[in-house]
Amino acid sequence: MCAVLITGGAGYIGSHVNKLLASRGVETVVFDSLVTGHADFLQWGEFIAGDLLDPPALERAFAAAPIDAVLHFASYIAVGESVEDPNKYYLNNVAATLNLLDAMVRHGVRGLVFSSSASVYGEPEQERIDENHPKRPLSPYAHSKAMVEQMLEDYHRAHGLASCRLRYFNAAGADPDGEIGERHVPETHLIPLVLHAALGLRKNISIFGTDYATPDGTCVRDYIHVSDLAEAHALALDWLKGGETRAFNLGNGSGYSVREVIEVARAVTGRDIAVVESGRRAGDSPVLVASSGRAKAELGWEPRFGDLETIVRTAWDWHLKDCRD
Ligand code: UFG
Repeated sequence: MCAVLITGGAGYIGSHVNKLLASRGVETVVFDSLVTGHADFLQWGEFIAGDLLDPPALERAFAAAPIDAVLHFASYIAVGESVEDPNKYYLNNVAATLNLLDAMVRHGVRGLVFSSSASVYGEPEQERIDENHPKRPLSPYAHSKAMVEQMLEDYHRAHGLASCRLRYFNAAGADPDGEIGERHVPETHLIPLVLHAALGLRKNISIFGTDYATPDGTCVRDYIHVSDLAEAHALALDWLKGGETRAFNLGNGSGYSVREVIEVARAVTGRDIAVVESGRRAGDSPVLVASSGRAKAELGWEPRFGDLETIVRTAWDWHLKDCRD
């Protein structure tokens, strides 16, 4: 039987996709350096330790099983860090992906599902962003995602490599079974940080900017449950059989402000969460909300964990367990 190779399968989103595919009988091979991934998220399929910048290690991954398709999650994700250390992002997110694509061509692998990001759009021109919105990346991180998207279009033209470029909005929440969840070191994302404040692991949560032109002055984001993202990847694997390359936005289409997220977290946790109002964080767009009509129409995707309370509740259940262990 053919297997699916999952780069970054020990990370937040990759591990949720690995779990879902394994539950459906798909054979998976996880390839991860464990630099930011977690050994305790490696609960399904086969594991090959290695870095995409190390071609012999990559060859070992392709030798582990006949590989039918690749899901490519491995990348660095901190926007601020990418501004300070662009080399790290262009090397690990772009150059490393070239190694992967060349290995795929050599091994005759039919296609790839890529973890792209809403950050490729930059400052939005309209309230709901569709895939035709101009791409104006604001950071080396966002540029690295846009560059890989371009490479995928070029490899499709040159080598017939199919690709599905999934532009996530704000991934959030955790496995409803509580087996895996969101754990970044250091943590920079809003929902985990708010929950750390609820747990007493930090004194408070800083709101980055209260003077945006939004209803309550704080930034608005489209939070999408990680299990809904996982489902989109399963559908994308089928879609790849059509041999095309295309980008799809993945979001709920509803925006929540930073203050609203904190309010929902107070209600879900029943705990006090102290807030400090700070200045704006560089590079933040005031509003990022998806129009995901294309993913619904062409992939048949329908998010199931749409409301923010469910998203925060699954994240809270995971944090309670993870921070106790
Ligand atoms: N925020 C705070 N306080 C914090 C942390 C975040 O107010 O302590 C605010 C941010 O300013 C932003 C919102 O909460 O307005 C969400 O911030 P996150 O860091 O959780 O997420 P981002 O929207 O910055 O970025 C996320 C991913 C990126 C991805 C981007 C695409 O982290 O990898 O979504 O939309 F590129």
